[in-house]
Amino acid sequence: MKAPFVDLKAQHLPIQDELNQAIQNVMNRCDFALGEDVVRFEEEFAAYCGARYAVGVDSGLSALELSLRAFGIGPGDEVIVPANTFIATAAAVTFTGAEPVLVEVDPTSYNIDVAHIETAITPRTRAIIPVHLFGLPAEMDTIMKIARVHDLIVIEDACQAHGALYKGRRVGSLGHAAAFSFYPTKNLGGCGDGGMLVTDDAQVAEQIRAMRNCGQREKYRHELTPFNHRLDTLQAAILRVKLRYLDGWNEARRQGAAWYKELLANSGVVTPVEDDNSVHVYHVYVVRTHHRDALQAYLRDQGIGTAIHYPIPIHLQPYYAENNFDRGLFPMTEELCDEILSLPMFPTITHEQVQYVAEHVNKFAVGVPEMESAV
Ligand SMILES: Cc1ncc(COP(=O)(O)O)c(C=O)c1O
Repeated sequence: MKAPFVDLKAQHLPIQDELNQAIQNVMNRCDFALGEDVVRFEEEFAAYCGARYAVGVDSGLSALELSLRAFGIGPGDEVIVPANTFIATAAAVTFTGAEPVLVEVDPTSYNIDVAHIETAITPRTRAIIPVHLFGLPAEMDTIMKIARVHDLIVIEDACQAHGALYKGRRVGSLGHAAAFSFYPTKNLGGCGDGGMLVTDDAQVAEQIRAMRNCGQREKYRHELTPFNHRLDTLQAAILRVKLRYLDGWNEARRQGAAWYKELLANSGVVTPVEDDNSVHVYHVYVVRTHHRDALQAYLRDQGIGTAIHYPIPIHLQPYYAENNFDRGLFPMTEELCDEILSLPMFPTITHEQVQYVAEHVNKFAVGVPEMESAV
């Protein structure tokens, strides 16, 4: 593979001694469940986000579900989520017994289209989950304004956006709570699964702390639903080391994105937008073309790894088949699912690798009249 889609080995290599030491420290203490590193990591990650509290859990999905539950959201309630997102955003709502209400996305940012939110609000609406998709913050000022007017909770889905800034503030500090995923390929990723809920609300943090640990505040007295969604101490130890490198890694991703932007300027593919309000952290680098499938196959033949985030929209997923949603319900989202392609993007990506990818995207365009005209 000349340009892999991601390269975790290259990312770990320079910090391997630190990671080994962190793992060894946990092995020495044997505090594997909710140990010292979980407590320290929660403090450090809350401070990093500019929030008061952080509660470590076992995944981004759990962080979303438990935060909805902590705000008392459940059967009979509706929660607004963008139509173009990973299944977990909507599934977390479904798991609580509430109903996810999908809202179309913006054609340039691919984030929730704030112009469509108010028409989706009903007397049953309790919350909005904006997703900072691909690493670009959603339009939070407008979303918070709508939430204030309609008395709604806002839970940021920041699973793809660790460290991204909106008007100078880090995501995670913008809504009433925020969910992060530490899936290995995320901007801050563990060596296994993990997640975090971040909030300024002491009561919400306390509830989630109890819920993640068998619903207990006192040992063996189970007051809340006895979930087990604890963050593993070994993952917390690894994530503490990696958190120290996150800003540098995000900067490197941004450099990679700048190289792509320049080299793909005349390729005929649509490249990601950045706006003045936000610092994008390029969890993935997504381009768009009517010829997505052919481009992906062509790049694969050149040894270039790509992915699609995501090929099937939520409303057409088999999991939601019983809702009988029709194709055509969210045209923008459906178009994106057919046209977007994520190119190689990771902190150690080199100029040569980006050049190699761009060269082949440009070569592909030459054979396609519609793209060629843009070259
Ligand atoms: C937007 C979004 N939300 C939620 C999740 C769920 O995170 P996890 O895989 O840790 O459960 C992800 C992870 O891929 C995600 O990308």
